[in-house]
Amino acid sequence: MALKMSGWVAFLCAVGLSFPAGAGREQVELPEFAAKHLKATMRDHLEALERVTRLLAEGSYDKAADIAEERLGMSSVEIHYERHVGKYMPTEMRLLGTRMHEAATSFAASARRAEGTGAADERLLAALANVMEGCTACHKHYRTQ
Ligand code: HEC
Repeated sequence: MALKMSGWVAFLCAVGLSFPAGAGREQVELPEFAAKHLKATMRDHLEALERVTRLLAEGSYDKAADIAEERLGMSSVEIHYERHVGKYMPTEMRLLGTRMHEAATSFAASARRAEGTGAADERLLAALANVMEGCTACHKHYRTQ
């Protein structure tokens, strides 16, 4: 685990160093159908985040976990990326995608714990922020047009 984490830290540092602030984003060439699919997926991601946040506000933690896992978590990888878009992404970009999906799955686990205790805590909000960090990390480094 420690090794896995330090691997990620090294990876993220490498990505950060190769794209200093203001240096612009790397353009990724995707076939047209894949670019369209990516954007549709992205809009669904944002909608899912809205829904998840709303459900948290309503105290429906289990439902928030379901949406997060189905639409953003590792369960969604097959549908969203691997078959359609993921295979056209540069490796580092795909890894950033996987990291976001892992964060969403981890958030879902936190939300299920909150359902058990009946209350959201800082850890749950931090887990949600980690998902959003997964979004922004990729947006900072890559563009399609
Ligand atoms: C692996 C990389 C990656 C991850 C992770 C990622 N995105 Fe994106 N997203 C992109 C790229 C590339 C674009 C196209 C941006 C561009 O060309 O300027 C995009 C575009 C978008 C758009 C605009 C869609 C449109 O119709 O133009 C939205 C909204 C969006 N992302 C939301 C999200 C949200 C919310 C998350 C996290 C839950 C997320 N994205 C995670 C790469 C990513």
